[in-house]
Amino acid sequence: PPLDEILNLHDFEAVAKIILPDKAWAYYSSASDDEITIRENRAAYQSLVPSRILRDVTVVDWSTTILGQKSNLPVYISATALGKLGHPDGELNLTRAAGKHGVIQMIPTLASCSFDEIVDAALPNQPLFLQLYVNRDRTITKRYVQHAEKRGVKGLFITVDAPQLGRREKDMRMKFVGDDAGAKVQENMSGVKKDEGVARAISSFIDPSLSWKDIPWFRSITNMPIILKGVSTPEDAVLALEAGVQGIVLSNHGGRQLDTSRSGLENLIDIVNVLKTRGPWPNPNFSVFVDGGVRRASDVLKALALGASAVGIGRGFLYAFCSYGEAGVEKAFKILGDELEMNMRLLGARNLKELVPEMVDASALQAH
Ligand code: FNR
Repeated sequence: PPLDEILNLHDFEAVAKIILPDKAWAYYSSASDDEITIRENRAAYQSLVPSRILRDVTVVDWSTTILGQKSNLPVYISATALGKLGHPDGELNLTRAAGKHGVIQMIPTLASCSFDEIVDAALPNQPLFLQLYVNRDRTITKRYVQHAEKRGVKGLFITVDAPQLGRREKDMRMKFVGDDAGAKVQENMSGVKKDEGVARAISSFIDPSLSWKDIPWFRSITNMPIILKGVSTPEDAVLALEAGVQGIVLSNHGGRQLDTSRSGLENLIDIVNVLKTRGPWPNPNFSVFVDGGVRRASDVLKALALGASAVGIGRGFLYAFCSYGEAGVEKAFKILGDELEMNMRLLGARNLKELVPEMVDASALQAH
Protein backbone atom coordinates (compact mmCIF):
# COMPACT_ATOMS: atom_id res chain seq x y z
CA PRO A 1 0.00 0.00 0.00
CA PRO A 2 1.12 3.60 -0.53
CA LEU A 3 2.63 5.23 2.54
CA ASP A 4 -0.34 7.55 3.06
CA GLU A 5 -2.50 4.52 3.78
CA ILE A 6 -0.33 3.61 6.77
CA LEU A 7 -2.18 4.71 9.88
CA ASN A 8 -0.23 3.19 12.75
CA LEU A 9 2.96 1.33 13.61
CA HIS A 10 1.25 -2.07 13.35
CA ASP A 11 0.61 -1.36 9.67
CA PHE A 12 4.37 -1.20 9.02
CA GLU A 13 4.78 -4.64 10.54
CA ALA A 14 2.04 -6.07 8.32
CA VAL A 15 3.77 -4.65 5.22
CA ALA A 16 7.21 -5.82 6.34
CA LYS A 17 5.92 -9.34 6.84
CA ILE A 18 4.77 -9.45 3.23
CA ILE A 19 7.73 -7.80 1.53
CA LEU A 20 10.72 -9.00 3.54
CA PRO A 21 12.70 -12.06 2.45
CA ASP A 22 12.08 -15.03 4.77
CA LYS A 23 15.48 -14.76 6.38
CA ALA A 24 15.08 -11.10 7.29
CA TRP A 25 11.55 -11.59 8.60
CA ALA A 26 12.74 -14.55 10.70
CA TYR A 27 15.63 -12.59 12.20
CA TYR A 28 13.64 -9.43 12.93
CA SER A 29 10.38 -10.90 14.16
CA SER A 30 11.67 -13.84 16.12
CA ALA A 31 11.78 -14.08 19.88
CA SER A 32 13.23 -16.76 22.12
CA ASP A 33 11.83 -20.20 22.98
CA ASP A 34 8.02 -20.17 23.11
CA GLU A 35 7.78 -16.44 22.41
CA ILE A 36 5.80 -15.84 25.60
CA THR A 37 7.63 -12.66 26.61
CA ILE A 38 7.19 -10.97 23.25
CA ARG A 39 3.43 -11.44 23.60
CA GLU A 40 3.58 -10.27 27.21
CA ASN A 41 5.32 -7.06 26.09
CA ARG A 42 2.23 -6.12 24.11
CA ALA A 43 -0.27 -7.48 26.62
CA ALA A 44 1.12 -5.34 29.45
CA TYR A 45 0.14 -2.20 27.57
CA GLN A 46 -3.49 -3.23 27.59
CA SER A 47 -3.66 -1.87 31.14
CA LEU A 48 -6.36 0.76 31.33
CA VAL A 49 -6.12 4.49 31.93
CA PRO A 50 -8.56 6.72 33.79
CA SER A 51 -8.68 10.10 32.04
CA ARG A 52 -8.93 13.57 33.58
CA ILE A 53 -11.26 16.12 32.07
CA LEU A 54 -11.81 19.88 31.69
CA ARG A 55 -8.18 20.96 31.83
CA ASP A 56 -7.86 23.23 28.78
CA VAL A 57 -5.78 21.00 26.59
CA THR A 58 -5.62 23.41 23.66
CA VAL A 59 -1.84 23.30 23.71
CA VAL A 60 -0.03 20.07 24.52
CA ASP A 61 3.72 19.58 24.46
CA TRP A 62 5.53 16.23 24.41
CA SER A 63 9.07 17.44 23.83
CA THR A 64 11.65 16.40 26.40
CA THR A 65 15.31 15.79 27.05
CA ILE A 66 16.90 12.35 27.13
CA LEU A 67 20.24 12.16 28.98
CA GLY A 68 20.42 15.91 28.64
CA GLN A 69 19.81 15.87 24.88
CA LYS A 70 16.78 17.59 23.38
CA SER A 71 14.27 15.21 21.82
CA ASN A 72 11.07 16.06 19.98
CA LEU A 73 9.51 12.78 21.14
CA PRO A 74 9.71 11.05 24.54
CA VAL A 75 10.85 8.08 22.46
CA TYR A 76 14.27 7.03 21.15
CA ILE A 77 15.17 4.54 18.44
CA SER A 78 16.46 1.43 20.18
CA ALA A 79 19.32 -0.52 18.60
CA THR A 80 18.32 -3.29 16.22
CA ALA A 81 21.15 -5.12 14.47
CA LEU A 82 21.62 -5.80 10.75
CA GLY A 83 19.48 -3.14 9.12
CA LYS A 84 20.58 -4.09 5.62
CA LEU A 85 18.84 -7.43 5.85
CA GLY A 86 15.66 -5.43 5.39
CA HIS A 87 16.63 -2.37 3.31
CA PRO A 88 19.73 -1.49 1.23
CA ASP A 89 20.35 1.73 3.18
CA GLY A 90 20.08 -0.09 6.52
CA GLU A 91 20.47 2.05 9.63
CA LEU A 92 21.04 5.24 7.61
CA ASN A 93 17.28 5.42 7.06
CA LEU A 94 16.94 5.92 10.80
CA THR A 95 19.82 8.36 11.10
CA ARG A 96 18.53 10.68 8.39
CA ALA A 97 14.91 10.62 9.51
CA ALA A 98 15.97 11.12 13.14
CA GLY A 99 18.10 14.12 12.16
CA LYS A 100 15.22 15.78 10.35
CA HIS A 101 12.77 15.25 13.18
CA GLY A 102 14.89 15.73 16.29
CA VAL A 103 14.72 12.14 17.47
CA ILE A 104 17.65 10.23 18.99
CA GLN A 105 18.97 7.03 17.45
CA MET A 106 20.90 4.38 19.38
CA ILE A 107 23.51 2.92 17.03
CA PRO A 108 23.87 -0.87 17.34
CA THR A 109 27.30 -2.48 17.72
CA LEU A 110 26.09 -4.92 15.08
CA ALA A 111 24.82 -2.35 12.59
CA SER A 112 25.10 -3.31 8.92
CA CYS A 113 26.50 0.15 8.16
CA SER A 114 29.78 1.00 9.79
CA PHE A 115 29.74 3.23 12.86
CA ASP A 116 31.44 6.05 10.97
CA GLU A 117 29.05 5.85 8.03
CA ILE A 118 26.19 6.37 10.45
CA VAL A 119 27.82 9.27 12.27
CA ASP A 120 28.74 10.84 8.93
CA ALA A 121 25.08 10.65 7.84
CA ALA A 122 23.96 12.57 10.92
CA LEU A 123 23.57 16.34 10.99
CA PRO A 124 26.17 18.38 12.88
CA ASN A 125 25.14 18.23 16.55
CA GLN A 126 22.51 15.52 15.97
CA PRO A 127 22.58 13.55 19.22
CA LEU A 128 23.32 9.84 18.89
CA PHE A 129 23.65 7.05 21.44
CA LEU A 130 25.68 3.86 21.11
CA GLN A 131 24.60 0.34 22.06
CA LEU A 132 27.56 -1.74 23.17
CA TYR A 133 28.13 -5.46 23.06
CA VAL A 134 31.28 -6.02 25.06
CA ASN A 135 34.00 -7.95 23.25
CA ARG A 136 36.04 -10.64 24.97
CA ASP A 137 39.01 -8.57 23.85
CA ARG A 138 38.65 -5.41 25.92
CA THR A 139 41.18 -3.49 23.87
CA ILE A 140 38.70 -3.69 20.97
CA THR A 141 35.87 -2.48 23.19
CA LYS A 142 37.95 0.35 24.60
CA ARG A 143 38.96 1.56 21.16
CA TYR A 144 35.34 1.41 19.95
CA VAL A 145 33.94 3.30 22.96
CA GLN A 146 36.62 5.98 22.87
CA HIS A 147 36.19 6.43 19.14
CA ALA A 148 32.43 6.87 19.65
CA GLU A 149 32.97 9.47 22.33
CA LYS A 150 35.42 11.34 20.13
CA ARG A 151 32.83 11.36 17.36
CA GLY A 152 30.31 12.99 19.68
CA VAL A 153 28.10 10.11 20.84
CA LYS A 154 26.10 11.25 23.88
CA GLY A 155 25.30 8.04 25.73
CA LEU A 156 26.67 4.50 26.06
CA PHE A 157 24.04 1.78 26.44
CA ILE A 158 25.80 -1.39 27.55
CA THR A 159 23.64 -4.42 26.79
CA VAL A 160 23.61 -6.59 29.90
CA ASP A 161 20.89 -9.12 29.10
CA ALA A 162 22.79 -11.03 26.45
CA PRO A 163 25.79 -12.96 27.82
CA GLN A 164 24.55 -15.51 25.30
CA LEU A 165 22.03 -14.81 22.59
CA GLY A 166 18.59 -16.32 23.13
CA ARG A 167 17.47 -19.33 21.07
CA ARG A 168 15.26 -17.75 18.47
CA GLU A 169 14.14 -20.85 16.73
CA LYS A 170 12.53 -19.17 13.74
CA ASP A 171 15.88 -17.55 13.06
CA MET A 172 17.92 -20.67 13.83
CA ARG A 173 16.05 -22.61 11.15
CA MET A 174 17.59 -20.20 8.65
CA LYS A 175 21.30 -20.56 7.99
CA PHE A 176 23.59 -17.54 7.91
CA VAL A 177 25.18 -17.68 4.47
CA GLY A 178 28.32 -15.69 3.88
CA ASP A 179 27.61 -12.03 3.45
CA ASP A 180 23.87 -12.13 2.99
CA ALA A 181 23.17 -10.30 6.20
CA GLY A 182 24.63 -7.26 4.52
CA ALA A 183 26.75 -7.06 7.61
CA LYS A 184 30.30 -6.04 7.13
CA VAL A 185 32.15 -8.31 9.48
CA GLN A 186 33.89 -5.57 11.33
CA GLU A 187 36.67 -5.74 13.84
CA ASN A 188 34.23 -5.60 16.74
CA MET A 189 32.44 -8.74 15.58
CA SER A 190 35.32 -11.04 14.68
CA GLY A 191 34.92 -14.73 15.48
CA VAL A 192 31.65 -15.27 13.61
CA LYS A 193 30.04 -18.76 13.43
CA LYS A 194 27.89 -19.47 10.44
CA ASP A 195 25.69 -22.47 11.21
CA GLU A 196 23.21 -21.27 13.81
CA GLY A 197 20.99 -18.61 12.31
CA VAL A 198 21.79 -14.97 11.89
CA ALA A 199 21.63 -13.91 15.53
CA ARG A 200 23.95 -16.56 16.88
CA ALA A 201 26.30 -16.26 13.94
CA ILE A 202 27.08 -12.64 14.65
CA SER A 203 27.21 -12.75 18.42
CA SER A 204 29.96 -15.20 19.26
CA PHE A 205 32.36 -12.38 20.19
CA ILE A 206 30.22 -11.24 23.15
CA ASP A 207 31.88 -11.70 26.53
CA PRO A 208 29.77 -13.78 28.95
CA SER A 209 32.16 -13.01 31.83
CA LEU A 210 30.96 -9.39 32.02
CA SER A 211 30.11 -8.52 35.63
CA TRP A 212 29.48 -5.65 38.06
CA LYS A 213 33.25 -5.56 38.64
CA ASP A 214 33.70 -4.25 35.11
CA ILE A 215 31.63 -1.10 35.61
CA PRO A 216 34.48 0.98 37.11
CA TRP A 217 36.58 0.08 34.09
CA PHE A 218 33.92 1.44 31.73
CA ARG A 219 33.74 4.57 33.89
CA SER A 220 37.51 4.94 33.57
CA ILE A 221 37.53 4.78 29.76
CA THR A 222 34.72 7.22 28.96
CA ASN A 223 32.90 10.31 30.16
CA MET A 224 29.71 9.45 28.29
CA PRO A 225 26.70 8.69 30.45
CA ILE A 226 26.59 4.91 30.97
CA ILE A 227 23.23 3.14 30.85
CA LEU A 228 22.71 -0.57 31.51
CA LYS A 229 20.29 -1.96 28.92
CA GLY A 230 18.36 -5.02 30.02
CA VAL A 231 17.61 -4.65 33.73
CA SER A 232 14.59 -6.54 35.12
CA THR A 233 14.68 -6.55 38.90
CA PRO A 234 14.67 -4.02 41.76
CA GLU A 235 17.82 -5.69 43.13
CA ASP A 236 19.75 -5.01 39.94
CA ALA A 237 18.30 -1.50 39.64
CA VAL A 238 19.74 -0.72 43.09
CA LEU A 239 23.10 -2.28 42.19
CA ALA A 240 23.18 -0.10 39.08
CA LEU A 241 22.44 3.01 41.13
CA GLU A 242 25.15 2.07 43.60
CA ALA A 243 27.59 1.35 40.78
CA GLY A 244 27.24 5.00 39.77
CA VAL A 245 25.89 4.53 36.26
CA GLN A 246 23.54 7.16 34.85
CA GLY A 247 20.57 4.94 34.15
CA ILE A 248 18.99 1.65 33.22
CA VAL A 249 16.71 0.33 30.50
CA LEU A 250 14.00 -2.01 31.73
CA SER A 251 14.06 -4.31 28.77
CA ASN A 252 13.83 -7.95 27.85
CA HIS A 253 15.44 -7.31 24.47
CA GLY A 254 12.11 -7.39 22.68
CA GLY A 255 11.39 -10.89 23.99
CA ARG A 256 14.54 -12.25 22.34
CA GLN A 257 16.50 -13.27 25.45
CA LEU A 258 15.08 -14.93 28.60
CA ASP A 259 11.66 -16.18 27.61
CA THR A 260 8.89 -15.81 30.20
CA SER A 261 10.61 -12.77 31.68
CA ARG A 262 8.17 -9.99 32.59
CA SER A 263 7.60 -6.90 30.51
CA GLY A 264 9.55 -3.74 31.23
CA LEU A 265 6.31 -1.92 32.00
CA GLU A 266 5.39 -4.41 34.74
CA ASN A 267 8.87 -4.25 36.24
CA LEU A 268 8.80 -0.46 36.21
CA ILE A 269 6.38 -0.17 39.12
CA ASP A 270 8.44 -2.25 41.56
CA ILE A 271 11.69 -0.71 40.43
CA VAL A 272 10.48 2.87 40.81
CA ASN A 273 9.15 2.03 44.27
CA VAL A 274 12.56 0.79 45.36
CA LEU A 275 14.47 3.66 43.76
CA LYS A 276 12.24 6.11 45.60
CA THR A 277 13.58 4.74 48.88
CA ARG A 278 17.19 5.23 47.73
CA GLY A 279 17.32 8.89 46.84
CA PRO A 280 15.52 11.74 45.11
CA TRP A 281 12.75 10.83 42.70
CA PRO A 282 12.70 11.62 39.86
CA ASN A 283 16.47 11.36 40.12
CA PRO A 284 18.17 13.86 37.78
CA ASN A 285 21.30 11.71 37.78
CA PHE A 286 19.65 8.35 37.17
CA SER A 287 17.24 7.76 34.30
CA VAL A 288 14.93 4.79 33.97
CA PHE A 289 13.97 3.84 30.42
CA VAL A 290 11.59 1.15 29.25
CA ASP A 291 11.37 -0.74 25.97
CA GLY A 292 9.55 -3.72 24.50
CA GLY A 293 6.23 -3.80 22.71
CA VAL A 294 5.76 -0.04 22.50
CA ARG A 295 3.71 0.71 19.36
CA ARG A 296 1.22 3.40 20.37
CA ALA A 297 1.47 6.80 22.00
CA SER A 298 -0.81 5.49 24.72
CA ASP A 299 1.89 2.89 25.50
CA VAL A 300 4.47 5.66 25.73
CA LEU A 301 2.31 7.76 28.04
CA LYS A 302 1.64 4.84 30.39
CA ALA A 303 5.35 4.17 30.83
CA LEU A 304 6.07 7.86 31.42
CA ALA A 305 3.19 8.17 33.90
CA LEU A 306 4.67 5.29 35.89
CA GLY A 307 8.08 6.98 36.03
CA ALA A 308 10.02 6.21 32.86
CA SER A 309 12.14 9.10 31.48
CA ALA A 310 11.57 7.96 27.90
CA VAL A 311 10.84 4.75 26.03
CA GLY A 312 12.68 2.86 23.31
CA ILE A 313 11.11 1.41 20.20
CA GLY A 314 12.91 -1.27 18.17
CA ARG A 315 10.75 -3.14 15.68
CA GLY A 316 8.29 -0.28 15.12
CA PHE A 317 10.97 1.83 13.39
CA LEU A 318 12.76 -1.17 11.89
CA TYR A 319 9.62 -2.29 10.06
CA ALA A 320 8.96 1.32 8.99
CA PHE A 321 12.25 1.53 7.09
CA CYS A 322 12.10 -2.02 5.76
CA SER A 323 8.82 -1.16 4.08
CA TYR A 324 9.25 2.49 3.08
CA GLY A 325 12.86 3.49 3.75
CA GLU A 326 13.57 6.83 5.35
CA ALA A 327 10.08 8.15 4.49
CA GLY A 328 8.58 5.30 6.50
CA VAL A 329 10.53 6.33 9.58
CA GLU A 330 9.46 9.94 9.13
CA LYS A 331 5.87 8.77 8.88
CA ALA A 332 6.29 6.69 12.05
CA PHE A 333 7.44 9.82 13.93
CA LYS A 334 4.48 11.76 12.58
CA ILE A 335 2.03 9.04 13.58
CA LEU A 336 3.47 8.98 17.10
CA GLY A 337 3.22 12.77 17.29
CA ASP A 338 -0.43 12.73 16.17
CA GLU A 339 -1.22 9.97 18.63
CA LEU A 340 0.58 11.78 21.44
CA GLU A 341 -1.38 14.95 20.82
CA MET A 342 -4.73 13.17 20.88
CA ASN A 343 -3.91 10.90 23.81
CA MET A 344 -2.51 13.68 25.97
CA ARG A 345 -5.63 15.75 25.35
CA LEU A 346 -7.92 12.86 26.20
CA LEU A 347 -5.86 11.88 29.22
CA GLY A 348 -5.77 15.46 30.49
CA ALA A 349 -2.00 16.05 30.45
CA ARG A 350 -0.64 19.21 28.80
CA ASN A 351 2.98 18.25 29.15
CA LEU A 352 4.97 15.23 30.23
CA LYS A 353 5.34 16.48 33.81
CA GLU A 354 1.58 16.26 34.19
CA LEU A 355 1.69 12.52 33.61
CA VAL A 356 1.30 10.96 37.05
CA PRO A 357 1.04 7.33 38.24
CA GLU A 358 -2.68 7.72 38.98
CA MET A 359 -3.20 7.93 35.22
CA VAL A 360 -2.54 4.18 34.92
CA ASP A 361 -4.62 1.46 36.51
CA ALA A 362 -1.52 -0.19 37.98
CA SER A 363 -3.38 -2.72 40.13
CA ALA A 364 -4.84 -4.26 37.01
CA LEU A 365 -1.41 -4.19 35.40
CA GLN A 366 0.22 -6.12 38.22
CA ALA A 367 -2.62 -8.61 38.51
CA HIS A 368 -2.28 -9.22 34.82
C1 FNR B 1 17.12 -6.06 18.86
N1 FNR B 1 17.57 -5.58 20.09
C2 FNR B 1 18.91 -5.40 20.28
N2 FNR B 1 19.37 -4.91 21.47
C3 FNR B 1 20.68 -4.73 21.68
O1 FNR B 1 21.05 -4.28 22.77
N3 FNR B 1 21.58 -5.01 20.70
C4 FNR B 1 21.20 -5.48 19.49
O2 FNR B 1 22.04 -5.75 18.62
C5 FNR B 1 19.83 -5.70 19.26
N4 FNR B 1 19.40 -6.20 18.07
C6 FNR B 1 18.06 -6.37 17.86
C7 FNR B 1 17.64 -6.85 16.62
C8 FNR B 1 16.29 -6.98 16.37
C9 FNR B 1 15.85 -7.47 15.01
C10 FNR B 1 15.34 -6.66 17.36
C11 FNR B 1 13.87 -6.80 17.11
C12 FNR B 1 15.76 -6.21 18.59
C13 FNR B 1 16.61 -5.19 21.15
C14 FNR B 1 16.14 -3.76 20.97
O3 FNR B 1 17.16 -2.84 21.26
C15 FNR B 1 14.97 -3.45 21.92
O4 FNR B 1 15.31 -3.80 23.25
C16 FNR B 1 13.70 -4.17 21.50
O5 FNR B 1 13.61 -4.23 20.11
C17 FNR B 1 12.47 -3.49 22.06
O6 FNR B 1 11.32 -4.20 21.73
P1 FNR B 1 10.40 -3.85 20.45
O7 FNR B 1 10.23 -2.35 20.40
O8 FNR B 1 11.10 -4.41 19.26
O9 FNR B 1 9.14 -4.57 20.77
